[in-house]
Amino acid sequence: MKILVTGAAGFIGSNFVRYVLKRHEDVEIINFDMLTYAGNLENLSDVEEDRRYTFIKGDIADENAVRSVLASTRMDAIVNFAAESHVDRSLHMGVEAFIRTNILGTQILLDAGREWGVARYMQVSTDEVYGSLGAQGRFSESSPIAPNNPYAATKAGADFLVRAARESYGIDVVITRCSNNYGPYQFPEKLIPLMIANALEGKPLPVYGDGMQVRDWIYVEDHCSAIDLALRKGAPGEIYNIGAMNDMPNLHVVKLILGHLHKPESLIRHVTDRPGHDRRYAMDATKIQNDLGWKPARDFEEGIKLTIDWYLSNREWLDRIRSGAYAQYYENLYAGR
Ligand code: NAD
Ligand code: DAU
Repeated sequence: MKILVTGAAGFIGSNFVRYVLKRHEDVEIINFDMLTYAGNLENLSDVEEDRRYTFIKGDIADENAVRSVLASTRMDAIVNFAAESHVDRSLHMGVEAFIRTNILGTQILLDAGREWGVARYMQVSTDEVYGSLGAQGRFSESSPIAPNNPYAATKAGADFLVRAARESYGIDVVITRCSNNYGPYQFPEKLIPLMIANALEGKPLPVYGDGMQVRDWIYVEDHCSAIDLALRKGAPGEIYNIGAMNDMPNLHVVKLILGHLHKPESLIRHVTDRPGHDRRYAMDATKIQNDLGWKPARDFEEGIKLTIDWYLSNREWLDRIRSGAYAQYYENLYAGR
């Protein structure tokens, strides 16, 4: 199978490439990534010599670039991870790049895939398209689409374009919607690696509002196994929710991290809340479990330990990212908050 994986220099995409190369001998992957601040070829340095893997630098919102890749190699599938992925950036640093990559980029991939006869298109989407839950219940595939922040709105827009491509042209599409990922190579703007990094440096841990917002955590490799399965066995036109039933309040996660690192809870700082902050996410993944036989391999206790150990063993990776442009980003977002 020849797969065009977009955004594979980022967190989940890089884990997905590694996962697929390990599990399937007969596979060829092109990683098409424009290397934004979140894209890092170091994330795949261990596979760059693998003859089944190729990197091409390019922008999914650049029609000519996408068409030229698909014209040069006949691909069986596109798996679209490429996105502007951070909610806070969409709220505080302008939404233009989100609209361009997440919406326009998705349409360009769909059109070019159709033009060049790509058999299957997979959209890697998110639970955030469903908005926020009350105290009870979980999101199913038929929950209403009700995004509450600009990032989520662009992901929802992309999902609608994917749906429309199926309805209008009969393209074989599959959408996966996953909950919050954590694990190796996650960019340290996101909650778990940010808290690990700050704790290691003895810096304050900025918890938004009361810290009782609930996220449903999944170890990144479990997300990758679900995407791989949906790519190979998912039914055309279907949506699959992915989640590992690890929903818990942010404050609980932060305290667990401090405990693992033997750091004091006095490092926690409650800061001004995120605008429109979704209160609770929780996924119902019954469909992918029943229809495709997927199940997560790791519980949160094991996954968080593996993750913390990874960051402890990869301080240089972390330090390289946290210097330079990241320092300015952190100052802009957190100073005086
Ligand atoms: P990330 O920010 O770590 O990586 C995004 C990658 O996309 C980077 O390598 C970046 O360079 C690339 N990219 C950005 N714009 C591009 C463009 N125009 N053309 C080509 N490449 C471009 O993101 P992530 O956390 O790995 O998320 C990957 C996907 O999974 C996203 O679509 C996201 O919405 C979705 N998702 C993420 C989570 C999560 O918890 N992180 C959960 C569910 C779904
Ligand atoms: O749910 C899936 C989504 O998970 C993905 O679609 C997004 O791409 C991904 O970024 C993530 O979005 P969240 O906004 O849930 O993740 P983030 O790590 O930014 O925040 C997790 C929770 O922690 C959220 O309730 C906000 C809170 N938070 C976050 C940061 C960065 C803090 O309290 N303090 C922080 O400094």
